[in-house]
Amino acid sequence: MASLMHFFTTLLFVLIPLVATTHHHHHHHGLKSLHFALYQHETINKTGYFVVHGVAGPPVSQTTTPFGTLFVFQDPLTLKPNYTSKLVGTAEGTSITSGLDGLQSLTIGKVSLNVKKHKGSISIVGVTNNIKPSNHPVVGGTGDFLFVQGYVTSSPVNLVGLTVTYKIEFHLYWPPYAYPKQ
Ligand SMILES: *[C@@H]1O[C@H](CO)[C@@H](O)[C@H](O)[C@H]1NC(C)=O
Ligand SMILES: *[C@@H]1O[C@H](CO)[C@@H](O)[C@H](O)[C@H]1NC(C)=O
Repeated sequence: MASLMHFFTTLLFVLIPLVATTHHHHHHHGLKSLHFALYQHETINKTGYFVVHGVAGPPVSQTTTPFGTLFVFQDPLTLKPNYTSKLVGTAEGTSITSGLDGLQSLTIGKVSLNVKKHKGSISIVGVTNNIKPSNHPVVGGTGDFLFVQGYVTSSPVNLVGLTVTYKIEFHLYWPPYAYPKQ
């Protein structure tokens, strides 16, 4: 009995990849993934606004915002650090200062992308540190990014001046049931 079970289990493990290979013939090298970096540019009172002022902790500076601050943004994403380089996406969302030290905020965002022959959006949620690289889990996507998993790393590049720039590194993975139509 046990050996019969083993036989069927083995058969399943042999058959499933065969079936999957037939249907997703162009992805037979394993899980589909995409890794790239873009640059987010945020201009105070133009692409990002303080909507609610915080209640405690350090004042607004280049790196801090008072606890409870609500900030809303819709920032362009470009291929290179210079904001005049090619526009390939938008990051829209909100961040709420959730660290009493004024350095950390809870960020909820939707990133619309048209990059590397992939069009759609990913949704992210996580805590952003204003002075250190921060990882944000990807919680889902739309369009060619439907069901996508992974994380994005946001790192400050330039925090001086009216327009601040962050480098956003994308590490995206498609589960086997979610390969986009090609
Ligand atoms: C943005 O607008 C607010 C409200 O009008 C103003 O108080 C603030 O100084 C402006 N900030 C910058 C950096 O221009
Ligand atoms: C960005 O590109 C523009 C146009 O090519 C150039 O004038 C400007 O100096 C660049 N800025 C930076 C910060 O490199």
